[in-house]
Amino acid sequence: MDLKLMISICILIHIVNCEKPNIILLFADDLGWGDLASYGHPTSTTPNLDKMAEEGLKFMNFYSSSPVCSPSRSSLLTGRYQVRTGIYPGVLQCGSVGGLPLNETTIAAQLKKVGYGTGMVGKWHLGVGKDQEYLPTKHGFDHYTGIPYSHDMCPDYVCFYPNKSCHDRGRVGDTPCPVFQDEKIIQQPADFLTLSETYSTAATSFIHQMADKKQPFFLYMAFQHTHHPQFASKMFTNSSIRGMFGDALNELDWQVGRIFDAVNEAGISHNTFVFFTSDNGPSLTREVRGGNAGLLRCGKGTTYEGGMREPAIAWWPGRIKPGKTSELAATVDLFPTISKLTDIPIPSDRIIDGVDMSPILFESKMSNRDTYIYYPVDASPKDGVFAVRYKEYKAHYYTTGTGLYPEQYPDAACKVSAGTVQHDPPLLFNLNYDPGELNPLNTKESPYKGIVQTINEVKTKFEATVVWAESETNKGITNAAKPCAKPECDQFPQCCTTGTIPLMPKTIRIL
Ligand SMILES: *[C@@H]1O[C@H](CO)[C@@H](O)[C@H](O)[C@H]1NC(C)=O
Ligand SMILES: *[C@@H]1O[C@H](CO)[C@@H](O)[C@H](O)[C@H]1NC(C)=O
Ligand SMILES: *[C@@H]1O[C@H](CO)[C@@H](O)[C@H](O)[C@H]1NC(C)=O
Repeated sequence: MDLKLMISICILIHIVNCEKPNIILLFADDLGWGDLASYGHPTSTTPNLDKMAEEGLKFMNFYSSSPVCSPSRSSLLTGRYQVRTGIYPGVLQCGSVGGLPLNETTIAAQLKKVGYGTGMVGKWHLGVGKDQEYLPTKHGFDHYTGIPYSHDMCPDYVCFYPNKSCHDRGRVGDTPCPVFQDEKIIQQPADFLTLSETYSTAATSFIHQMADKKQPFFLYMAFQHTHHPQFASKMFTNSSIRGMFGDALNELDWQVGRIFDAVNEAGISHNTFVFFTSDNGPSLTREVRGGNAGLLRCGKGTTYEGGMREPAIAWWPGRIKPGKTSELAATVDLFPTISKLTDIPIPSDRIIDGVDMSPILFESKMSNRDTYIYYPVDASPKDGVFAVRYKEYKAHYYTTGTGLYPEQYPDAACKVSAGTVQHDPPLLFNLNYDPGELNPLNTKESPYKGIVQTINEVKTKFEATVVWAESETNKGITNAAKPCAKPECDQFPQCCTTGTIPLMPKTIRIL
């Protein structure tokens, strides 16, 4: 059959795998298991994400690879646990010398092999480097618009309309938040009142450009929302009865809506796979601005479920049946799943921790995964794996509290004062019966004694595969790696500005 005819038949009847699908990955920041209306939050108003959840498949047992940002993002993009790629312990800072090693293959680099256009918008947090060698454009993205790390890693300016300073104190000694366009800083400091507009315009024009060229594309949209300090434009200031967190979430949802509008306007919804999730649990230390883990225990910073189980929604009309799944899946699974969808062999010279999610997504079948591994914020070769989920059971070999949980809150296990505790035998929970991890099972007797033995074997087998990469986060910090729009300036970092946004005196704190 001639190619033109085949393509027109494909377009007419949308034959599976005929055209390469577009892929859009939406990644929220510090959004907890309990934060979305579709996951039970009574005062969240997220019409676009709610619609996505109604039309798509909602995951009930979906995990990120870390209770903090950088490691979680490295695993999302590479399909590998952070200990294999060096994005541990903790996170990369503004000025970090290290970054995601250039010999790691991201989903973007993978898709470029078969002609995809690749764009990223938003928070990168996988390094900038002294020579900007770790920016998204060096990791397979054709285009990048965004702040390359968390926006609390800069001095704070204005977060809410009209001209209200940010609630949280940013890092005064670091450079003002830069907005990159590919490898150039277009705005410094970032204007938070228009940032979401900048992001959604970048995302939607990329979608339209690709659709006009009929080029398959990958868009990775990593929201700054709902990380602290929360911010919102005029349209969303005071828009939610959930307060500042709700305002930020509403703005995130509006950005999601604009992306779906662009997909529909471009007429590509039949051939576009959209996946939404978050990098880690809620930052409870922010109290009323800190998000919500629902019935899960603790939040960001711990290997309890609240730190790592995430809302996740998969959408592809006609291909993914609307509904809900309790099958086990994780961010690391996106790399092999997307590779499979697009017929790209996965690199054979390294271990990929992800497994293909296609059976769950497209066939309503069981997961290929029965095990999940939990590493803490400060992963170390000395302690290794903190917890293992095997089917419905989770065994904690270590637990740790976190400074990201307020001292006045009730759960002692989540607080920093709980310290790091080794459990031998491990603390065992059945997450199907007890998702809140409140009632440890009796591991001294059958049947749980045997289950612990099985999980010990699973853990030993997994750990035998781990070669710890050299830590990238421990490579130090230097001013040379701090993004500065005016590198020749003499009062570093205050003079790192593009001059378009006035600097707020740091003493003004209205909220
Ligand atoms: C990348 O290079 C480092 C340093 O040579 C090496 O240890 C690591 O195994 C490499 N990773 C991959 C995925 O090839
Ligand atoms: C916000 O502050 C800037 C700079 O001081 C000023 O030009 C602008 O008019 C202010 N906007 C509002 C709405 O007050
Ligand atoms: C937001 O609400 C606060 C408290 O009710 C009020 O003081 C403020 O003027 C409102 N801001 C806007 C922009 O509506």
